[in-house]
This record gives sequence, C-alpha cells and structure tokens, in this order.
Amino acid sequence: MTTHEVALWSGPSTRDPAMRPVDLTDSGAVESALAADDPAVVIHAAAVSTADRAFREPRLAHAVNVVATGRIADWCVGRGRRLILVSTDLVFDGRASWRREQDPAQPILEYGRTKRAAEELLDHRPGCLSARLSLLYGPTPCKRPSFFDQAMGTLRAGIPQAFFIDEYRTPLDYASAAAALVALALSDLTGLVHVGGPERLSRFDLMRRAARALGIDPKLVLANHLRDIVFPEPRPADVSLDSSLFVATFPSASRPKIEQALEAP
Ligand SMILES: NC(=O)c1ccc[n+]([C@@H]2O[C@H](COP(=O)([O-])OP(=O)(O)OC[C@H]3O[C@@H](n4cnc5c(N)ncnc54)[C@H](OP(=O)(O)O)[C@@H]3O)[C@@H](O)[C@H]2O)c1
Repeated sequence: MTTHEVALWSGPSTRDPAMRPVDLTDSGAVESALAADDPAVVIHAAAVSTADRAFREPRLAHAVNVVATGRIADWCVGRGRRLILVSTDLVFDGRASWRREQDPAQPILEYGRTKRAAEELLDHRPGCLSARLSLLYGPTPCKRPSFFDQAMGTLRAGIPQAFFIDEYRTPLDYASAAAALVALALSDLTGLVHVGGPERLSRFDLMRRAARALGIDPKLVLANHLRDIVFPEPRPADVSLDSSLFVATFPSASRPKIEQALEAP
C-alpha cells in the first residue's frame, strides 16, 4: 500500500495540536502555510459551511468560500499541483431530482452561490476538480459535533425531533465521503464530479432509518414540511445527485445504504 504524508489545517482558533491553524481570510497566512507544507495535492474542505451562516455573514462567506479558494487554486495551478475543492449539492435550485454534472447550477441560497462561484474559479484549470458532496451523516472522529451527532444526541435523550419530509438529498456517510475524496485526489479527474449516496431520501427518512439502525426509538423522529418554517431564504427542495460519473470512475468505491454505514465496526 502506498502511504502519503498528510498535513492538516484548521481554522485559526483550533486547539488541536495535530492541526495547523490557518486563517483563510489572511492571504499572507495562506501563502506561508502553503509554502511550509508544499503539498502535492490539496483537498480544500474549509468553508463557511451552513446556509444560515452564509446568509448572516455574506462578506465572510465570500472571503472564505470564494476569495480564499481562488488564492489556493492560483497557488496549485502555478506549481502544477492538484486541487480538490469540496463543493455541495446546494449549488442546485432544488427543482429537479438526480442532477448530473452537466445540469445547470443555479443556486438559490447565498451559501450555494458562494460554492458555485468557487467552482467557477477552478473551471478548465489543469489539475483542478470540484467534488460536490451531498448531505453527510454518521459518526466522525472530529471533536466538533455535526448536525447528525447533535440530532442523534437529542433523540438518544428521548426528546422527539422533527425533520423535513419534503426536502430530498442523496445522503452519504462521512467515512465513504472521505474515502471518495482520497480516491479523487489520487486520480487525474478534473472538472466536476458528484459524490452522493445510493438513495434519494428526505431528511425525515434518513433520520428515522438512522435512529432505528442505532437502536433509538424511530417514533421520536417526527415529520414536518418546509412550509412549516419561515426561512430567511427559500430552501431547495430536491438536490439529489446522480453520481454515475463517480461510480463509473471508481466502480469499487463504497456507497453503503444507511443501515450498512451505521453498523458497528
Ligand atoms: N456537512 C455536509 O453535509 C456537507 C455537504 C456537502 C458539502 N459539504 C462541504 O464540505 C466541507 C466541510 O463541511 P463541514 O460540514 O465539515 O463544515 P464544518 O464542520 O463547518 O468545517 C468547516 C471547516 O472550515 C474551517 N474554516 C471556516 N472558516 C475558516 C477560515 N476563515 N480559515 C480557515 N478555516 C476556516 C473551519 O475551521 P474551524 O475549525 O475553525 O471551525 C472548519 O474546519 C465544506 O466545504 C462544505 O461546503 C458539507
């Protein structure tokens, strides 16, 4: 098996000694960190990563998601290095199912607009790939609790929680998404690729099946509708991804169903 040396970066306030703190809004800090680590491949996952925060802090979202991505892309392209940008299904407007890479991306959320703008900075540039992930779920070794960890913690405590029955994604577990990003990093695919799970599911279906798989009473998972909540921006109702290109490129890649992904190791 080939081994690769990995340099991990995080935001400037990290206390994790394994991580290099880098503020992506500080061009000098980004240049110094790139020069110090001198990576052959960059997997760029950092972002203002929620629709809510991107809406509330659009200047910061633009600085981190767009401007910093352009800076990293320029560094990589200028030196012939590979760049994988972690993008999102939320670049779509939500009006159709099973979107392919060649379908038009017309984001309706500020978050999606920043991610799409970042993708455009990589378009047609050598060595650059934007990997659009779908909603991620499952356990992570990360110390920051994810949406999934928080929701499962609430349900485990016996507190019912409602999830949208009319908002569709193609959820993928974190471990498979991480393995996919490594495979893509080591490949020579460029442009755009969709990396979603095998099923088109509502958040309600995802959480009910995940609760059952984890031994939590699925009746605690309640259903609500997008129209029940007033959001500051409209939410795309269906951003399911067609991942045929990814599957054809990596036929043995893991994309398990929920029950299999959440099985104890
Ligand atoms: N989670 C999903 O379901 C999902 C689905 C599709 C795509 N994605 C994409 O996947 C990537 C990771 O998402 P996530 O959910 O894991 O998000 P997350 O937990 O919020 O992680 C985002 C990372 O970006 C870092 N970051 C934010 N601002 C920064 C700055 N100014 N300088 C340096 N680092 C900064 C954060 O650092 P701190 O440690 O300081 O917070 C954190 O490590 C994102 O690109 C997101 O768009 C996620």
